[in-house]
Amino acid sequence: MATGLAQRLLDWFQRHGRHDLPWQNPQTPYRVWVSEIMLQQTQVATVLGYFERFMRRFPDVQTLAQAPSDEVMQYWAGLGYYARARNMHAAARRIVDEHGGELPDNAESLRALPGIGESTAGAILSLAFGRPAAILDGNCKRVYARYFGEPGWPGETRIARRLWAYARQHTPADRPGDFAQAIMDLGATLCTRKKPDCRRCPLNADCRALAEDAVECYPYPRPKKQRPLRQARLLAVMDDDRVLLEKRPPSGIWGSLWSLPEIGEGFTAEDHARQMLGLQLEDARPLESFTHGFTHFELQITPWIGRKGQSAGVADEGQLRWYSLARLPGVPAPVAKFLANLPTRNESS
Ligand code: ADE
Repeated sequence: MATGLAQRLLDWFQRHGRHDLPWQNPQTPYRVWVSEIMLQQTQVATVLGYFERFMRRFPDVQTLAQAPSDEVMQYWAGLGYYARARNMHAAARRIVDEHGGELPDNAESLRALPGIGESTAGAILSLAFGRPAAILDGNCKRVYARYFGEPGWPGETRIARRLWAYARQHTPADRPGDFAQAIMDLGATLCTRKKPDCRRCPLNADCRALAEDAVECYPYPRPKKQRPLRQARLLAVMDDDRVLLEKRPPSGIWGSLWSLPEIGEGFTAEDHARQMLGLQLEDARPLESFTHGFTHFELQITPWIGRKGQSAGVADEGQLRWYSLARLPGVPAPVAKFLANLPTRNESS
């Protein structure tokens, strides 16, 4: 039986983890809190410059609480997500008013402060107070989703709950702070979103995603929204090896592109041909439908095919033109594909 997940991570952390991040030296509750807020939506590399400057100007909770908000915002400028700074400033005032200027050392009081959610509370408790509290930031979610082969998108409550359960189950009573930093470091350095370095990973012996040879498939991405289905009938009028194309209106799908005429709603193919294209259509029949995806909807296309009648004439100008199949202008991809696979003349007659 392999050593437990926590022990392997801790051993790895000892040798390969990050030990010289500025908020680790010294690792006070105030410094951990500020760094965790900065790191919520910002990469370590960016935070490094801001953190030290912030600490020089606001070295403790009292200084931060007493500072004018304009100045706090000024020291945050460039980090983005400014609600973080506003919340942090408000939280500093409450820490002074309600907690004697010391960050509380329990989850409930921490989470009552603006800007502190469950994971940030867990990070402060484990990193700064040595309490066995679980954390679950984006890096940790990726590590757990892969190690346990958790199918599903972590943005879904049901999946997030399962990942939190793994996190709580595996956070050790001994060295929880090192464990928290270890799993974040693993996610940031080896178990990266793209091109993970599984060869050097301390969890590779029993990582489920690796066993499936599908590491990059985890965590599952946000599911695509179901798009509405629209229908269109496109008409291919053939005259030997020529097909009648129509220039589409400038707005709407395929704006200003040459395409097959779209049979108007409520029209039969023959009626549309006669009234809108000015020609007699013979042997009209539908071919197999196919769908094409657009950003906001899917289009089910039913192509119709028919021959130009002997007596019929149609203006070969303006928005309607005959094109040889061998020399088509730029047409929408699904239309080009359909025309390339048309039954040959012998088959279609
Ligand atoms: N991301 C969030 N918290 C972090 C930490 N303590 N170290 C590195 N990256 C982090």
